[in-house]
Amino acid sequence: MNLHGEKTPKTRPGKQVRPQGGRMHGPMGMGGPVEKAKDFKGTMRRLLSYLKPFRVGLTVVLLSAILSVVFSITGPKIMGRGTNILFDGVMSRVVSRQVEEAFGGTVPAWLDKDTLLLMLDALGSEELAAMTAAGEVDPAAVSAAILARGDERLAPIAASIAQMPAADVRTLLLSFSSGDAARISDMLSGMDIVIGGGVDYARIGRILGLLVGIYLLSAFFGWFQIWVMAGITQKTVYALRKHVDEKLDRLPIRTFDSMPRGDLLSRVTNDIDNIQQTLSQSITQVMTALLTVVGVMAMMLSISPLLALVSLVTLPLAGVVAMQIAKRSQKQFAIQWESTGDLNGHIEEMFTGHAIVQAYGKQEEAVQRFDAHNARLFSSSFKAQFISGVVMPVMHFFNNLNYVVICVVGGIRIAQGTISFGDLQAFIQYARQFTQPIAQTAGIFNMIQSTAASAERVFELLDEKEETPDAGMVPEGPVAGDVRFEQVSFRYEPDIPLIEDMNLAVEPGRSVAIVGPTGAGKTTLVNLLMRFYEIQEGTIRVDGTDIREMPREALRQPIGMVLQDTWLFKGTIRDNIAYGRENATEEDIREAARAAYVDHFVRTLPDGYDTILEDEGSNLSQGQRQLLTIARAFLAQPRILILDEATSSVDTRTEAIVQRAMARLMEGRTSFVIAHRLSTIQNADTILVMDHGRVVEQGRHQELLDRGGFYSRLYQSQFTRAQDEEVAPPTPA
Ligand SMILES: Nc1ncnc2c1ncn2[C@@H]1O[C@H](COP(=O)(O)OP(=O)(O)O)[C@@H](O)[C@H]1O
Ligand SMILES: [Mg+2]
Repeated sequence: MNLHGEKTPKTRPGKQVRPQGGRMHGPMGMGGPVEKAKDFKGTMRRLLSYLKPFRVGLTVVLLSAILSVVFSITGPKIMGRGTNILFDGVMSRVVSRQVEEAFGGTVPAWLDKDTLLLMLDALGSEELAAMTAAGEVDPAAVSAAILARGDERLAPIAASIAQMPAADVRTLLLSFSSGDAARISDMLSGMDIVIGGGVDYARIGRILGLLVGIYLLSAFFGWFQIWVMAGITQKTVYALRKHVDEKLDRLPIRTFDSMPRGDLLSRVTNDIDNIQQTLSQSITQVMTALLTVVGVMAMMLSISPLLALVSLVTLPLAGVVAMQIAKRSQKQFAIQWESTGDLNGHIEEMFTGHAIVQAYGKQEEAVQRFDAHNARLFSSSFKAQFISGVVMPVMHFFNNLNYVVICVVGGIRIAQGTISFGDLQAFIQYARQFTQPIAQTAGIFNMIQSTAASAERVFELLDEKEETPDAGMVPEGPVAGDVRFEQVSFRYEPDIPLIEDMNLAVEPGRSVAIVGPTGAGKTTLVNLLMRFYEIQEGTIRVDGTDIREMPREALRQPIGMVLQDTWLFKGTIRDNIAYGRENATEEDIREAARAAYVDHFVRTLPDGYDTILEDEGSNLSQGQRQLLTIARAFLAQPRILILDEATSSVDTRTEAIVQRAMARLMEGRTSFVIAHRLSTIQNADTILVMDHGRVVEQGRHQELLDRGGFYSRLYQSQFTRAQDEEVAPPTPA
């Protein structure tokens, strides 16, 4: 293709309404108003279809997630076992010491845990309590009462009590009265007590080792899951980007003209980024969060259904409160969102129009408007942050409440011997893990919604109507440059007539000047010849061939365009000129540069042809940029040349140079020149005078002046002699 200028002749830079980035979520997934997709289900299904080729990978991700969660969830339970061993060990030692005291310094060999419990039951019985209450105790009677319970394991105790002094027996019985013995026996029944034993540190060490191993495994699978998902995401997004890029190539210029530039850009960049982030993070997070909730719930139920119920009661309570607060802050977030947009828009406007603002002395006003926007942003941000900031403390409060209830109920259960100390500890850990993934899922759901909105916009772009496919053959031989419009009619909008029944014949090598007021349809004519837009009626022929019957590239290849908007890319001056033709040699480039009068000024630059053009050539003057695009056209050696107001934004002195370069470029080529400059128009072979899409007059300069019609009036008002003074020719390059 041979475009020497911006591909889109008419772009209306649209103000971007959607804030960039799009992720302003507060805590607990609250944040700005979440954009919603119009068709959430359909969009998600289509997005997921991009993931279909990775079914195996996704299964691996799911399995890793399961393993990671299972390992991490077993942690507290194993830890609880360690705690139990430690606690039971300590309790064993305490109990052994008590037993030693009671049996005069030795632990009897027959005394194991069950016997101890039986003994506690017997000593704490109502019968013996009644005996102690009566005053003096008879060891023989006590021994008989114990034996009367009928368990032979109690025989050694009965025997040793029978031999104890009466006073000692009384003290022993007193210490077990008032239900203490029963309580201690209940509590000990739930423990793994070894009389005469202690803490098994070796076992605790093994458990700690196991714990480290399990957490390492969990971390490994967590990492593995993210690693696999990252690969899948990148491949998916790569495919999506490729689709979009290919689509952009097939879209007619009409789409680019009718879609605000910011919107289009944001679809190809922000929206795809948004999708990428969600795929790489949210999917794994949702998986992990859901699995964690389910797993933790199962563990909690298995440890204690009662405690699980207690923790579940506070959950909806917390949820309701959080929702209420969220609703309130949502409003403030919306205002914050909006005022951020306003403020940024204002700043952007003031920066880009800095010179104009200064020129009109509007600094004061600009500052005032900034202050107003800033104040609004301050107040809404403050409220939004404040209100949403309340959520976390409230959640903490409910969590702590939960914690207290669990501790109290759990403590009672330990005393009753129905739950072990380690299990309660594990349960508390689970309860703490429980709320987080739920809150996380809520936040992720918002993200998924905003992603669906992004995906929908990308898919909308992918569904845009495409150019009609290229048809026909590449005409053989060099292009002569004969251009004909035959009864051409065209409208941008179906109900706004523009070009009607236009006829025009330009022989090879002739120059046509197109003049007319703004909006007359001059650029439109170029758009039609380039087939940026398709005509509705009539035929346009190049060298006798209907342009619809040749591939677009074949049509555009021999056409060179120089536009008012100079399009230069970031790169060296050499590369920018060489854009006009592939495989151009250094000598070709220099020659084109000389012909376009750029060689001289380029050589005065410190880096010469290697000078890097920054930011579309902002380090050059407008005239220099224009000359560069002309040099590019020179290099391309087009057969047909289009110059659309190429000199309208350069100063008079530079214009003369540009003019000269253009005149040289036009030599021997069929050229269409849209210009204000009289000399170009005067020397043109034909002047087309356009108004409201029609060619109102056609002829040579003098003829048209003599006719005294539209052209002559235009000429009188526009092309005064003073404007057209010749300027000294440039120094030869
Ligand atoms: N892409 C477009 N979509 C709709 N209308 C357009 C488009 N481009 C130009 N027009 C309209 O067509 C008319 C001719 O525009 P144009 O050919 O650019 O005029 P000019 O003679 O100034 O180059 C104008 O009324 C303009 O508003
Ligand atoms: Mg125009």
